[in-house]
Amino acid sequence: MSGRVAIVGTGNVGVAAAYALFQQRVARELLLVDRDRERAEGEAMDLAHGQALVGSCPVRAADWADLAGCDVVVLAAGVGQQPGEDRLSLLQRNAEVLAGIAAELDHHAPEAVVIVASNPVDLLTRILQRLSRRPAERILGTGTMLDTSRFRALLGYHYGINPRSVHAYILGEHGDSEVPLWSDATIGGQNLRGATINGRPWDPEALHGLFTEVRDAAYAIIQRKGYTNTAIGLVIAYLTRVILDDQKSVVPVSAAVDGEFGLSDLCLSLPRVVGAGGVEGSVLPEPDEDERAALTASGETLAGHLAGLDL
Ligand code: LAC
Repeated sequence: MSGRVAIVGTGNVGVAAAYALFQQRVARELLLVDRDRERAEGEAMDLAHGQALVGSCPVRAADWADLAGCDVVVLAAGVGQQPGEDRLSLLQRNAEVLAGIAAELDHHAPEAVVIVASNPVDLLTRILQRLSRRPAERILGTGTMLDTSRFRALLGYHYGINPRSVHAYILGEHGDSEVPLWSDATIGGQNLRGATINGRPWDPEALHGLFTEVRDAAYAIIQRKGYTNTAIGLVIAYLTRVILDDQKSVVPVSAAVDGEFGLSDLCLSLPRVVGAGGVEGSVLPEPDEDERAALTASGETLAGHLAGLDL
């Protein structure tokens, strides 16, 4: 199944998402929206010239009215972190950008599933759910899909195993309070805790260092290249395909909580069933006591910043 996908914001993240979607031919048509129309046109032209190499994928710059009938809209507009800056400090600026977009999306693409990628993604996802008439389940954030991918990649390196055979989640905030779920992390179906896997014994100190490398990855990358974009672009392409193909896949996306871990009226990442309808269900883990407390604390961190927002 294929569909029409729009990307709002053709900055570093939006362009990486467009490239991944284009290269993997996820969409039947790609629409690029940016307040700098010429920038969107240039990115569309540059991508379109690759069709002879990857196959046909119409891509063009678009205005809000062109979003009519879009199946998925990706929000990648707003400012990114500067070196050393945390995601939460982007809230006021990016919430104002989002407020300017919400009504356009409701008017021109009321049926689309909206993927929020701008940061702080958990808070912006919740804010959009509050501002939009769209059912909340059709508004989800990339959340800790990227952190989980980083976690699986680093665990794969650590154990000498293909990351695709690592099943381990980072949940909660896509940010400094995120939580590694060691209690149900497995490789080849074997729980990591206390086990020797592929010759590597369980090493809590080394694995805690691995988690902090995951949690702080964006800071390390931004320090080196000024921004992050390629991996989040792949996350967006993966999640868009899950929706367009109505996969019913379980992925850790930022979605509204309704009492889970004592939290409500906010968004954070838990394993959700995602398909054509957006978030269609949940497959909640059974964290241990420490993990449960950390997830609740992560949610409370987010709730505190939502309360302080002036929109
Ligand atoms: C990162 C951005 C997408 O973690 O928040 O790279």
